[in-house]
Amino acid sequence: MSDTFKAVLLREADKKVTAAIEQVPMADLPDGDVTVRVSYTTLNYKDGMVLNGIGRLVRTYPHIPGVDFSGTVETSDHPDFKPGDKVVLTGWRVGEMHWGGYAELARVKGDWLVKLPDGFGLDDAMAIGTAGFTAMLAVDTLERHGLTKDQGDVLVTGAAGGVGSVATAILSNLGYSVAGSTGRPDQADYLRDLGVSQVIDRAELAEAPSRPLAAERFAGCIDNVAGTTLSNLLTQMKYGSAVAAVGLAGGNDLNTTVLPFLLRGVSILGIDSVMCPKERRLQVWQRIAKELPMRKLHHMIERHTMEDLPELGKAILKGAVRGRTVIEIAGG
Ligand SMILES: NC(=O)c1ccc[n+]([C@@H]2O[C@H](COP(=O)([O-])OP(=O)(O)OC[C@H]3O[C@@H](n4cnc5c(N)ncnc54)[C@H](OP(=O)(O)O)[C@@H]3O)[C@@H](O)[C@H]2O)c1
Repeated sequence: MSDTFKAVLLREADKKVTAAIEQVPMADLPDGDVTVRVSYTTLNYKDGMVLNGIGRLVRTYPHIPGVDFSGTVETSDHPDFKPGDKVVLTGWRVGEMHWGGYAELARVKGDWLVKLPDGFGLDDAMAIGTAGFTAMLAVDTLERHGLTKDQGDVLVTGAAGGVGSVATAILSNLGYSVAGSTGRPDQADYLRDLGVSQVIDRAELAEAPSRPLAAERFAGCIDNVAGTTLSNLLTQMKYGSAVAAVGLAGGNDLNTTVLPFLLRGVSILGIDSVMCPKERRLQVWQRIAKELPMRKLHHMIERHTMEDLPELGKAILKGAVRGRTVIEIAGG
C-alpha cells in the first residue's frame, strides 16, 4: 500500500494561494479517530472561496480543501464506525479549519460523520452535498415557522445555483408554487423542469428598495444572495412570512428598515449547515430521502474529476456553475 495519497493541496506564498494536485504523505494526515477513503466530493460556493484564498476561511497552509465528501471507512477508533461503513460528511469546518474532501483520504472526528442514508448511493450523497443539505434545512426551517403551500409563491434567489436548484426541486415536489430569480435567463427551461412556475430576472430584485414596504408578494423565501437583493425582497414579503437567510453570493451586507418586521411580522431565519447539531442533521437527511425526487437531482448534476477543481473554483465564484457538481475521486 502506498504511503502517499493524491490531493488538491493549497499553498500560500506572498499572500497568494495556489492549488496543485500533489502526492501527500499519509503521515501528514491530521488527528482524528476515523480515516475515510473518499469516493466522491463536490463543489460548493465556499469551496470556491477556499480554492481562491478568499474570506480568510483557511488560516494554516498547506491545506486540503473540500467542505464535504462521501466514502468508505478505512480505519476507525470511534465506537459508531467500523471499516467498510459508508459515510457522509458535511460541515464542521472541514475543508476550512480541517483538511477536507479534495483527496483520496480524509481523517476526521467520527462525531462529524453520518452513515450514508438508506436509498442513496455515495455519488447521490455528493450530488446533494452541503448545498442540498442546506436547501432541505432551509425548507424545513420555513415550515417549522409556519409556511404552508396554500399561502402563495415561495421565492428562491440564485435559483440556478446549487442550493437554489435543490431548494426549487424540493419545494416544487412538496406542492409549493416556486418563483425562481436568476441572472441567467438562458436557464429558464432548466428552472421550469426543476419546478419553477415563475422565472424572475435577478436585476428586478437587485436594486436597493425605493420604499420601506412594497406590495406583499412572497409567502416565503430561500435567499442565497443577500445584499440589496435581501433588502429589496424584505419589502415584498407577506404578513407573518419568513426569509431563510442562507447565502451571500451578492454580498454580505444588509441595509433595511425595521418596518417589514414591525408592521408585517416578517422574520429572517438564519440557516447554518456547518455546526448544525447531529440529531437535526439526521432528521434533515431523512427528509431529503423523502422529499427530493431523484430524477430532478440527476438532472441538475455535472460530473468532473479532481483535476478540474481549480478551474471550477473560479467558475463558481463568477456564478457560472449550474446546479450541482459531483467530483469522482475513487468512485464506488
Ligand atoms: N448557510 C449555510 O449553511 C450555507 C450552506 C451552503 C451554502 N451557503 C451559501 O449559499 C450561497 C449559495 O451556495 P451554492 O453552493 O449554491 O453556490 P452557487 O451554486 O454558486 O449558487 C449561487 C447562485 O447565486 C447567484 N449569484 C451568483 N453571484 C451573484 C451576484 N453577484 N448577485 C446575485 N446573484 C448571484 C447565481 O444564481 P443565478 O445564476 O440563478 O442568478 C449562483 O448560481 C452561497 O453564498 C454560499 O456561501 C450557505
